[in-house]
This record gives sequence, C-alpha cells and structure tokens, in this order.
Amino acid sequence: MRLHVVDHPLVAHKLSTLRDERTDSPTFRRLTDELVTLLAYEATRDVRTDEVEITTPVAVTLGTRLSYPRPLVVPILRAGLGMLDGMTRLLPTAEVGFLGMVRNEETLEASTYATRMPDDLSGRQVYVLDPMLATGGTLVAAIKMLIERGATDVTAVVLLAAPEGVEVMQRELAGLPVTVVTAALDERLNENGYIVPGLGDAGDRLYGTA
Ligand code: URA
Repeated sequence: MRLHVVDHPLVAHKLSTLRDERTDSPTFRRLTDELVTLLAYEATRDVRTDEVEITTPVAVTLGTRLSYPRPLVVPILRAGLGMLDGMTRLLPTAEVGFLGMVRNEETLEASTYATRMPDDLSGRQVYVLDPMLATGGTLVAAIKMLIERGATDVTAVVLLAAPEGVEVMQRELAGLPVTVVTAALDERLNENGYIVPGLGDAGDRLYGTA
C-alpha cells in the first residue's frame, strides 16, 4: 500500500477551516467538496488513458482519452457521500457504486449493510471515498471486497488519516495494488476511536446529527 499526503497550501488552508469547530455544516460541505477536488487531481495521476487521434481546426494530432472500462467511484455511506461531487467533477464519466458500512462504536468493527456496484470489477480502477481513515477497519473491509471482485487497483481518497489506521492498512493490504491519498496524516486516535486533532465526526459535521 502506498500513502500519499498531498502537500499544497490550498489543501492546508481549506483543511484548517474544516477542522475548526466553529465551521457550520453548509461551509463544511462546501470545503469538503473543494478539498476532494484538489485531492482527486492527485489521486487520478495514474488513471488509465489511451492515445487517440483527434482533429483540431488546424491539424490532426494525438490526444489522450480515459480508457474503458471507465473508473468506478465508490463513496462509503454515509460520510463518503459528501465527497462524491468533488470526485466526479474531475471524473464525470466514471461509474458510481455505493457501499453502506457502519462501524460499531464499541468494538470499532466495520460491517456492510448495503452494496450497490457491479459484481465483476475485472480490469477496473476504483476510487473509494471515506473522509476519515481512523482504525482502518472500514477501508480494509471495503478494499478487500473490491479486490475480490476483480478491481485491478484501488485508491482510497480520505481527508484525514491516523497513523494507527495507516499501519493496519499496510499490514492487512500488504502487496495489494492500493494507494491512500490524504490531505493530512494526524497524530493519533483517542480512546473513542476519533482522530486527534482531527475534525470530529465527519458524518455529523456534514449532515448534522440526524
Ligand atoms: N470517524 C469520524 O467521523 N471521525 C473520526 O475522528 C474518526 C472516525
């Protein structure tokens, strides 16, 4: 597994406002959207392309086009939904699948309650969206499932990562074609499984506490 921490002043600026407890939900949603678009630019650096011949008003030349099958973007419900528009802004022709996963707040284990995506992902590049890489349980379960379905490489786009979660992913997904792209690698997890300093509960901050 490769870890890529995106080092860019605009990412750092937007992330700092996102972390601030005074930032309200509408602003949090907008900043998440903007941040994901910046992360998506880095996350898609290795998206597969083909060379194509195109005709400009002046000449025939060689251009670049995304390969088929198109990439699949998979937000993990609920909080990953807040990242979908930011990602598909740069990949408008991607297919979108959905994965509903919930973590037990006591055991911190992830379980799947909804899956909506093609059974066969052979030859597909997949981008998984989940704002917080905390214990790593959810992302490990999601990525294993995608690779079992045939995905050739998986990139997880997260806003924040905890070192503990990165370590779990490195151990559980060793040797697999997986990349994590994050806006920051934070200090640690606290006893409740929250990332420190973090930004709190991403789902609650995106959508309120409903
Ligand atoms: N999920 C969140 O929303 N926040 C954390 O800090 C950890 C997991």
